[in-house]
Amino acid sequence: MQQKIIILDFGSQTTQLIARRVRELNMYCEIVPYNKFPHGDESVIGVILSGSPFSVYDEKAFKADLSQIKGKLPLLGICYGAQFMAYTAGGTVEPAGSREYGRANLTFIDPESPLFKDIETGAQVWMSHGDTITSIPDDFKVVASTEKVHIAAYQSKSLPLWGVQFHPEVFHSTCGLQLLRNFVVDICGGRQDWNADAFIETTVAQLREQLGNDKVVLGLSGGVDSSVAAVLLNKAIGKNLTCIFVDHGMLRKDEFKNVLRDYECLGLNVIGVDASKKFFSELAGVTDPERKRKIIGAGFIDVFDAEASKLKDVKWLAQGTIYPDCIESLSITGMVIKSHHNVGGLPERMNLKLCEPLRLLFKDEVRAVGHQLGMPDHLIKRHPFPGPGLAVRILGDITPEKVAILQEADHIFIQGLRDWGLYDQVWQAGAILLPVQSVGVMGDERTYERAVALRAVTSTDAMTADWAHLPYEFLAKVSNDIINHVKGINRVCYDISSKPPSTIEWE
Ligand code: XMP
Repeated sequence: MQQKIIILDFGSQTTQLIARRVRELNMYCEIVPYNKFPHGDESVIGVILSGSPFSVYDEKAFKADLSQIKGKLPLLGICYGAQFMAYTAGGTVEPAGSREYGRANLTFIDPESPLFKDIETGAQVWMSHGDTITSIPDDFKVVASTEKVHIAAYQSKSLPLWGVQFHPEVFHSTCGLQLLRNFVVDICGGRQDWNADAFIETTVAQLREQLGNDKVVLGLSGGVDSSVAAVLLNKAIGKNLTCIFVDHGMLRKDEFKNVLRDYECLGLNVIGVDASKKFFSELAGVTDPERKRKIIGAGFIDVFDAEASKLKDVKWLAQGTIYPDCIESLSITGMVIKSHHNVGGLPERMNLKLCEPLRLLFKDEVRAVGHQLGMPDHLIKRHPFPGPGLAVRILGDITPEKVAILQEADHIFIQGLRDWGLYDQVWQAGAILLPVQSVGVMGDERTYERAVALRAVTSTDAMTADWAHLPYEFLAKVSNDIINHVKGINRVCYDISSKPPSTIEWE
């Protein structure tokens, strides 16, 4: 049985990070809301309690009933999680004199504590809390302190229960991964057997069992998630999987042709549909970004449905949904988990059952699975690209001519990033066609042509992003190449806004 760590989510910004760190230890884990512990699931070997935006003494604070877990499974509370366990066991939690935020060093470590094995005094931890634990019950003892925080970590003397005031999941806690390893492996007895190979083996077996001899249809977008889902399903059920790749006319230069060829090389049973005319006519004159998205989303469903209906006896719709799209968010905290439902409504409309083989994976794990499945790097390291494609990168109305101009500029930029070894250093990049014309001079002639903006960002999850600090020499070369080679463009700008307050896409 696949062992599992459960992370009880109390609404912290870093809950997903805890899960990623535990997975980095090759230990499988799942995030569940604080009040939805899967009682009776025998694969659970330990529980981590996340932080929270609340104080434990707030009326609205999330309160979990741990009575059935305490003493049976090892517990580790992080920040609010630690305060909650100390407070409910009779300790005191009070507002800290000033909010503790930033780096701190451990000045005391109990050498006997298994949680701090191989961690030395002086190790750096990351603090971010407005409250502090000022006293713990008699049954608890302090196992680590910093200069300012006496009870930086505690453990129960009689139960397998620990609490840490700092955030081991955050990169700046340099001993954080070791601490999580000590908990997950030594204390919980984790086997560390979760990796891409194990995932592929168990998922392929599960898919065979779940799908039997049923026929499955999947929409490919050229993106990493749908491509990896397709290759995984192909390994499980082969020709019973049919993939449909729709060209809405707003993909990158030559993308439809190139990606279709990649898919065929991977042995996928794929139907490519060029529906660009339909989309161009439906989008003619439309300038509102949300209407563009709606038209493309609805058009995609029409085309996909029409193609899929030609297939016989299809029972399942497969999708490349990944874990961050599925985690139930605690909306009361204002935490927004972004998901783009480009094909929302399809399973209901087509009366198909839904199959989502990647729904437990983070993006980097999807890439690792793709790699193990033998997919080429240029497919699995591909930047994210919005479902509506260049339609949301042409400000104002869309025409085939504008798309062609933008495709050329975008191609020069992206190829340049590859040639200069910069492509893998940025999260995503592209060119945006602006709805303005400006004056220029080429040779002896005055020009009055379009401007493009280049956008490249660094990010880990697209929720926040910074503009990529690309070398000036690179930007100069790309700007020259675009103006010299793309007819219709005489000005290039570089977008230096971060998200927030800007977004990654301009529309
Ligand atoms: P924003 O612009 O909101 O984008 O900062 C965050 C991430 O989402 C992508 N994006 C989309 N993806 N359909 C998609 O599939 C869309 O309508 C859409 N809009 C934005 C964007 O490229 C970035 O990766």
